[in-house]
Amino acid sequence: MIPNIADFKNLIKDRVGLHFFNGMEGLLNTALLQRMGERGKESCEKYYEVLCVSTTEFDKLLSLLTINETYFFREPEVLDFVCDKLVPKMLERRDGPVRILSAGCSSGEEAYSLAIKLHQRYHEQFAARVEIHGCDIDTKILDKARTANYSSYSFRGVDPLLQQTWFTRNGNQFQLHDVIRNKVTFHRSNIVKEHLQSKFDIILLRNVSIYFDDDTRRLLHFNLLNMLEPDGALFFGNAETLANNFGILKLKQEHGLFYFCQPKTSRAPVATASLQPSAESCVAAPILSTQQCGSWINKALDCVSEKRFAQAEEWITKVLDCDIHHQEALVIKGVIALEKCEFEQTAQSAQHVLELDEWSAEAKMLLGLAMMWQHHTQQAIAWFKQVVYQQPGYWPAHYYLAEMYRQSELYRPALRTYRITLQLLNAEMNSTSNASALRLPLSFPSNSFRFLCEHQLAQFTHQDGL
Ligand SMILES: C[S@@+](CC[C@H](N)C(=O)[O-])C[C@H]1O[C@@H](n2cnc3c(N)ncnc32)[C@H](O)[C@@H]1O
Repeated sequence: MIPNIADFKNLIKDRVGLHFFNGMEGLLNTALLQRMGERGKESCEKYYEVLCVSTTEFDKLLSLLTINETYFFREPEVLDFVCDKLVPKMLERRDGPVRILSAGCSSGEEAYSLAIKLHQRYHEQFAARVEIHGCDIDTKILDKARTANYSSYSFRGVDPLLQQTWFTRNGNQFQLHDVIRNKVTFHRSNIVKEHLQSKFDIILLRNVSIYFDDDTRRLLHFNLLNMLEPDGALFFGNAETLANNFGILKLKQEHGLFYFCQPKTSRAPVATASLQPSAESCVAAPILSTQQCGSWINKALDCVSEKRFAQAEEWITKVLDCDIHHQEALVIKGVIALEKCEFEQTAQSAQHVLELDEWSAEAKMLLGLAMMWQHHTQQAIAWFKQVVYQQPGYWPAHYYLAEMYRQSELYRPALRTYRITLQLLNAEMNSTSNASALRLPLSFPSNSFRFLCEHQLAQFTHQDGL
């Protein structure tokens, strides 16, 4: 290992954010040896000095260090949401073009996938109202993006018809047609510290932040605050969203997808409004006492436990008519919607609660369940993980997390999480505490869940390698 590798690590992290976690030091070491060799067996100390002053040399080294893994139509549900929902909604509100950035675009597959989709769905006229940009730190990969010539490796799982329609085969390579290629502009930019000239309505920053540590990700978020339009949306990769929820940008969920947006400046007044009901909200019911609301809540809870949901809803409506931000009423409203399989409504109520209190584990649990029942497994995992983090003793969250892992074929984490659930269930049986640490009127019968956990654990014992 190169003796002054720590200096190189610091320099690279400081400049572009890339963090060489323990397992990745080897990659840095190999790249340094390669560059020093190519430059005529330069010493480590001398090479470090060159790197500090020469951007050309820095870029050459960087090209050996960046991980450019990407392919067309990766995580397609986000691309569908952007093209089918967000872009049309944004265009309705304005005359100018919607500006989209694929940040950390690598060889351009993500940006071009969007361009193909927008072109296909809305034809030339509509696509002319959308600007698509790609940026990356790696100049060499940007050259490849501009050339738009790909091997079959970039088309993993892509519908062959799409490939035939938009690419011309040339031996083993596929050349993207100019009608799409000309729609995307590429720039060299460091997303952690620099911004492009104007702001963006939609930023896709997927599978980039995994190479950054927490400090760099925070810095990145402050930079993104300045790059995102007030109504803009920022998407991380499915697996990254949770690790990026610092509260700098606001996490939002729509149609089972998560994205970040600008925090609302009106947040504080919203919270105040719940303490001091506005004249409008309480004209017919002047100064309704907390006691009155409490009694309606209790009646709603009784109805929920007896599964009389229509009546429960009536009591909740009374509370919310007086105070639209009544947190407990909103949670119960979310539960009722869940019981009625109205998952969008559940998610809406839970999001409302999170706007009032970003630490509401009840709202997060509801979101996890709503996602789970809609088969948005990755989103469900993200929410259950948050509940487990905040309420480590709440076994229902562990149980559903285990279920989601199992469905995603993540068998080791599933096994571990079923075991934890069972331990918590056993501990609960031997003590007076129970799972009702969350104020969530949903029933989770311990015996049934214990049986289910034991059953799943027994299945695992028959599997090899676990
Ligand atoms: C794994 S690729 C992701 C490609 C694409 N976004 C996707 O999801 O398929 C990560 C890319 O991020 C780029 N990258 C890393 N650090 C960056 C930075 N500070 N600014 C801009 N791009 C960066 C790398 O050069 C690499 O091409």
